Amino acid sequence: MKIDLTFSVNNIDELQLRDKNVVVIDVLRASTTVIAALHNGAREIIPVSNIESAVKISGSLFGDVTLRGGERGGKMIQGFNLGNSPLEYTEASIKGKSIIYSTTNGSIAMWKSRFARNMVVGAFVNLSKVTEFLSKTNEDALVMCAGDSSEPNGFSLEDAVCGGMVVQQLSQMKNMELELSDSARAAHTLYKSFGRSIQKMLKDSAHGKYLAGIGYKEDIQYSAQVDSLPVLPILSGSALKLKKDEKRAAEPEITPAVK
Ligand code: MLT
Repeated sequence: MKIDLTFSVNNIDELQLRDKNVVVIDVLRASTTVIAALHNGAREIIPVSNIESAVKISGSLFGDVTLRGGERGGKMIQGFNLGNSPLEYTEASIKGKSIIYSTTNGSIAMWKSRFARNMVVGAFVNLSKVTEFLSKTNEDALVMCAGDSSEPNGFSLEDAVCGGMVVQQLSQMKNMELELSDSARAAHTLYKSFGRSIQKMLKDSAHGKYLAGIGYKEDIQYSAQVDSLPVLPILSGSALKLKKDEKRAAEPEITPAVK
């Protein structure tokens, strides 16, 4: 199995992702929030590329079961129902709801992956579910770090370290023959350097410091809890839902590669 990794979505053309298995990682906070929302009972999350699309799509869906969630600058978008703190997506606020979702980087990475053969959402909170999915499919995969568009080169330390932890867990699996791209190897090295204290790494990261500065300190501790939310969001059509064996109702099957 070959694992490739991109450090940001800046130069990704969505047609490059067609027919690939893609893992989207945006630890602070889009991936963590999507995982929390589906873990807490949201029906689906529909990632969109911009705010206008979010307003248009949610306007055409039934108001009482559709919410708008997301952020700009880390804060809730005016006119939305939810911001982007995973702590807002409680069972009481989102159970059974469809959430139209727009964030600065993460939802764009998810939207750009809409042509993928399989797209799943990963973070520290569901890391083992991600590596279990990859080992089960046992096909080449691209780990797509959403990155941080506010950083000059779009690099996000926390996303890269999380991608490196995926590589670390796969490399420890029996009978797993891994071929790593240079970027995947670099992320693995970053994990070996920063993985001893994920919470400290998040707290000291550029976006972690920014979020703490605007009042979201608790999100950092929440996002650092490895395997605390053992569910796997997978793209089904235009919506992210829980994979079949985790959901309370019928869910999408994994799309096998055409041999
Ligand atoms: C993003 O999508 O860039 C992040 O999730 C932003 C955030 O939530 O602070």
